Amino acid sequence: MKISVIGAGNVGATCAQALAQRDFVNEVILLDIKEGIAEGKALDMCQRGPIDGYSTIVRGVTNDYEATKGSEVVIITSGIPRKPGMSRDDLISTNAKIVKSVTEQSIAASPDAKIIVVANPLDVMTYTAYLAAGIPSNRVMGMAGILDISRYKAFIGFELGVSVKEIQALLLGGHGDTMVPLPRFTSVAGIPVTSLIGEERLGEIVARTKKGGGELVKLMGTSAWYAPGTAAAQMAEAIVKNENRIFPCCTWLQGEYGQKDVYLGVPVQLGKNGIEKIIEVDLNADEQALLDTSCGAVKGVMKVLDDMAIFS
Ligand code: NAI
Ligand code: 2OP
Repeated sequence: MKISVIGAGNVGATCAQALAQRDFVNEVILLDIKEGIAEGKALDMCQRGPIDGYSTIVRGVTNDYEATKGSEVVIITSGIPRKPGMSRDDLISTNAKIVKSVTEQSIAASPDAKIIVVANPLDVMTYTAYLAAGIPSNRVMGMAGILDISRYKAFIGFELGVSVKEIQALLLGGHGDTMVPLPRFTSVAGIPVTSLIGEERLGEIVARTKKGGGELVKLMGTSAWYAPGTAAAQMAEAIVKNENRIFPCCTWLQGEYGQKDVYLGVPVQLGKNGIEKIIEVDLNADEQALLDTSCGAVKGVMKVLDDMAIFS
């Protein structure tokens, strides 16, 4: 059983490490175009195994798709990250070509793989991978919602001084400042968060969540990797172990939540076939309006991809 991670930068390497540590797959292939970088990081991860007690083999390769052959899941992290002052959407002209090319090569080597996209702008890069792979949409998805909801839970945990393990939440929409955390569907040990945190403060937490990626870019000069890499590994684990866990994932919508022909974050059930089911909840008018706005923002970036004409 093999999982491949394309791109051995900050997110890709963290993802490979998280996969190795979870110890549920025999082999992780870490692929990059930069000579030696994936090989070195993979060897370092293998040498960590005896300390941490995992036996996953991590193998680094330079642009060798033969090594990825037969992967059950391929995780695409290759692409440039944001620098301060950039939005995720500024990355499209570079990353769309990278994502198209690595998806085509990955699916040629592993025609049955499920694909998890991480590169930004996330929703449109997932759409790019879908077009490039030519496989059913249940097998092409993007990672963003697990990260965004995790930031939201972390901020609620800070606020209340409680373990983040107690927090359940729902978040919809694109991976950008228009994402839609939903306080009405957020609880702490079963207690509605709206009865624990006042409306104004909760509004501030929601606002911080929406800009959570940008907060880190400002601090570090590049985007985050610990939570993003681990979130992608969690999705792969749910698929490979057929866990049927429910996560917000970027998914091809065909009328669900009133949205059509768009990749957008909604709760889904992840199992051996990838997206087993899209889960719909009833939104009130305000929540639906926020989701419509988020969908509009993603469609605007889709138009930029269309104008690039890389698929014609
Ligand atoms: P990074 O610069 O550390 O790593 C990117 C790696 O991709 C580099 O090692 C580079 O050599 C490699 N690469 C570039 N072109 C390639 C190709 N054609 N084939 C194979 N490898 C190639 O960047 P980082 O921080 O790892 O971020 C990666 C991407 O993930 C960025 O687009 C970033 O915006 C995105 N991201 C998305 C998140 C999400 O929630 N979806 C969260 C964090 C980052
Ligand atoms: C993040 O949210 C930049 O998408 C990246 O950290």
